[in-house]
Amino acid sequence: MIINNICCIGAGYVGGPTMAVIADKCEHIKVNIVDINSDRINSWNKTDLNQLPIFEPGLKDIILRTRNRNLFFSTNIEEHISRADLIFISVNTPIKQSGVGAGMAVNLQYIELCSRQIAKFAKGHTIIVEKSTLPVRTAQTIKTILNAEVKSESKNNDLKSFSILSNPEFLSEGSAINDLEKPDRVLIGGEDNDAIQTLVEIYKNWVPSNRIITTNLWSSELSKLIANAFLAQRVSSINSVASLCEATGANVEEVSLAVGADSRLGNKFLSPGPGFGGSCFKKDILNLVYLCNHFGLPEVGSYWENVLKLNNWHQEKIVKTIVNKLFGTLTDKKIVILGFAFKANTNDTRESPAIFIVDQLLKEGANLIIHDPKVNEEQIENDLSNFNRKQLNNKKYSYSQNDKGSWSYSSKLFDIFSNAHAVVILTDWNEYSILDWEEISNQVLNTAWIFDTRGLLNRINLENLNTNIWIIGNG
Ligand code: UDX
Ligand code: ADP
Repeated sequence: MIINNICCIGAGYVGGPTMAVIADKCEHIKVNIVDINSDRINSWNKTDLNQLPIFEPGLKDIILRTRNRNLFFSTNIEEHISRADLIFISVNTPIKQSGVGAGMAVNLQYIELCSRQIAKFAKGHTIIVEKSTLPVRTAQTIKTILNAEVKSESKNNDLKSFSILSNPEFLSEGSAINDLEKPDRVLIGGEDNDAIQTLVEIYKNWVPSNRIITTNLWSSELSKLIANAFLAQRVSSINSVASLCEATGANVEEVSLAVGADSRLGNKFLSPGPGFGGSCFKKDILNLVYLCNHFGLPEVGSYWENVLKLNNWHQEKIVKTIVNKLFGTLTDKKIVILGFAFKANTNDTRESPAIFIVDQLLKEGANLIIHDPKVNEEQIENDLSNFNRKQLNNKKYSYSQNDKGSWSYSSKLFDIFSNAHAVVILTDWNEYSILDWEEISNQVLNTAWIFDTRGLLNRINLENLNTNIWIIGNG
C-alpha cells in the first residue's frame, strides 16, 4: 500500500514531535495533525516559534522546515480522517480518577471517542496505528469499535476496512527529536503483514532496517510497559541507594559510577533525583500492576508496585529532610525553588515530583519563590490546585488553619535569593549548575541550607560556599 496522506489525532508531546520528524524525513508524504483543542492548534500555527505549545530542543528548526510544506496543524478532524491512508492515534491516556480501576487503570475515553470518529469518517482501507501509551489489549478495543461500525455501514455502498498496528513511542522528553531521528529501535506490532510492511517502509526512510522490530500486537503493547517499568525500577533503585549512602557516608555518585561501569548493567538511568515523574512511568507501572492482578498474579503486581511506593516514599523523605534541617518548622520561611518541570529541557510538569514537594512545603507554612525556565506561572497554579483537589477527593488530606504558606513565581534568577532560609534544586536545568553559587551563599541567611536533589552541585567546587549544603546521596 502506498501512503500519501497521514493523519495524526492528538497534537501533544507525542503527536507533535513524532509527526514533525516523519514530515521532515518523508517529504513525499502529507502529514496532517488534528486536535480538538483549538488553542493548541493555534499555538502550533503561530509565526513566532517561541510560542509553540511544546518546548523540545531542535523542534523549532524542524517546524520551520516542514510546516505548511508537508506538515499541517488543523482542527478539521473529520476531513483529515477521511483523506488519510494511515492514522496515528496520539491522544492522552490519563489514569482513571473514579469508578472501576480508579487510580490504576487507564481512562480510555479519549481513545474510544477517537475510534468512533475514525469509524465514522474514514474512507476505503485505512491503517490505524496506536501511538499513545496504552494498556495491553487496547488494540482489541479499537478493533471492536471499528468493526462494529463497518458492519452497521455495510448496508451503504461506502465500504471501509481497517488494519490495526501498535507502534509504541520511546521518545524521552527533552531529547525527543534525537530519539526520533536516531531511535535505538522502532517497534511495530500487528497481525496484518501488509500493514506492518507499509509502516516499516515509512520508517525505512531514515531508520536502518535492523533497528525496526516487528512483533505480534500484544508483545508490542507489553514491551512498551515493560521498558518503562525497567527504567523506572532503575531510578527507584538508585534513589534507594542514595538514602543508604546518606546514612552510611558513602557517595552515590561514586557508587553509580562503579556499578554502571559493569557493561552488563550500563551507566544510564543511574542518577539519583527527587523521584521519577513524567506522563509514562507511573501510569505504565500502575497499568502493569492492574494487568498482573487481573491475570491472577498479585505477587508479580506487588513486585512492580514497590517501584512506585519507593518513589512516593523518596519524595516524602526529601520533604522531611528539608523540614528537619530547618529546625522542624517552615512557617514564614523564605524558600527558593529551582525547577518545576519533571526533568530538564521540557516544559512538561505531568507527575513532576516538584508538585508534591512544593505542596508539602506550602502545607508546612513556607513562603516559596518558584523559578523554572520553561514552565509558566499558570501551569504551576493549575498543577498545585489539581493536586490539592485530588488529595481532598481521596480524603488523604483536609485543610486546617495551619495551611498558611504562599508562593510567587519568578521568571528571573537574580534578586530572589536574599535572606532565603533555603534553596531547593528540583529540576536538573543546566542554568542552575552554572549559577554563581558562591554569591548565592553570601545572599542567603547565615543558617540557610541549599538542598540539591539532583546532584548538580557535585560539579562545582563547594569549598568557598558560605552555607550548609545537602546533596542527594552524599553522606
Ligand atoms: C519515558 C521513557 O524514557 C521513554 O522511552 C518514553 O516511553 C516515555 O517515558 P520521559 O518520561 O520523557 O520518557 O523521561 P525519562 O528521561 O525517562 O525520565 C523519567 C523520569 O526519571 C524523570 O523524572 C527523570 O528526572 C527521572 N530520572 C531519569 C532520574 O531521576 N534519574 C535518571 O537517571 C534518569
Ligand atoms: P501525549 O503526551 O500523550 O502526547 P498530550 O496530552 O500532550 O499527551 O496530547 C494529547 C492530545 O490529544 C491533546 O492535545 C488532546 O486535546 C488531544 N485529543 C484527545 N482526544 C482527542 C480527540 N478525540 N480528537 C482529537 N484530539 C484529541
